[in-house]
Amino acid sequence: MNYRHVFHAGNFADVLKHCVLARLLTYMTGKDKPLRYIDTHAGIGRYDLSGDAAQRTGEARDGLERLKAALAGNAALAGLMEPYLSALKAENAAHPGLYPGSPAIAARILREQDRLILCELHPEDHAVLSANFARDRRVKTFASDGFSSLKAHLPPVERRGLVLIDPAFEERNDLERSRKALADGLRRFAGGVYVLWHRIKDRAETDAFYAGLAALVPSECLALELHVDTIRADGPLSACGLVIVNPPWGTRVECEALLPALATALARGPGAHGVVRDLSRQDA
Ligand SMILES: C[S@@+](CC[C@H](N)C(=O)[O-])C[C@H]1O[C@@H](n2cnc3c(N)ncnc32)[C@H](O)[C@@H]1O
Repeated sequence: MNYRHVFHAGNFADVLKHCVLARLLTYMTGKDKPLRYIDTHAGIGRYDLSGDAAQRTGEARDGLERLKAALAGNAALAGLMEPYLSALKAENAAHPGLYPGSPAIAARILREQDRLILCELHPEDHAVLSANFARDRRVKTFASDGFSSLKAHLPPVERRGLVLIDPAFEERNDLERSRKALADGLRRFAGGVYVLWHRIKDRAETDAFYAGLAALVPSECLALELHVDTIRADGPLSACGLVIVNPPWGTRVECEALLPALATALARGPGAHGVVRDLSRQDA
């Protein structure tokens, strides 16, 4: 396991994933009933963008930094990003260079009655994750394989929840393992909200993945794509997707506004665009 998320924190993929996650959790906490958040690939929870590792790659410059520049004078985009920007602001209040990963964003938005399950397989990253949330009684961390252990956490006692499946794509079969984890999850907890992040490096591979999902998901399933440049198999990552199963009411309309705005803000080249499809309606 060589992947460490600190080298990629705050990049364009994080901006998309974290912004959508923050919006979904904000919507779901609009009801008093408790809910459970399950992060199958949690990372360390929060990242120091001013530290050596993040500075070495500088990926946040094409993500978070471009976004901040685009927000000035763009009230519509700022409105769509509000829950994400609030979490960011709260982290920065503690330490100016801190960037919230998915666990920190969830912990900022969730309430006293909610619970968080965080899985991270890398032993060192798990130790940091565990230390980062040691004082938060809502959180349990597991040094386990997030794909295979997801089943054990479902269905949650609260009967309401969001599962984030966010692999490192270090292993060749991560896409297939993500699909299988989603299938296992839906069998145990059909009403859960599932968010699955995937990279897009090969159009045919992504379309085959969507076709597999369309056969699997019984209800609404959105496929969001953010392209910051034309896809090149041998080039740096320039596109990624989020699959959202059982999106809360209004998600599609919000994402249809968000994705093109993000693509404009984060564009690196001529192929930049953002798109939302509904896989359950076979219009992919
Ligand atoms: C993309 S990063 C997660 C980022 C995090 N979700 C966020 O948004 O802040 C993927 C993480 O998964 C971990 N990982 C890799 N394989 C795993 C597995 N099978 N189960 C759980 N974690 C795994 C990696 O060590 C890495 O920290």
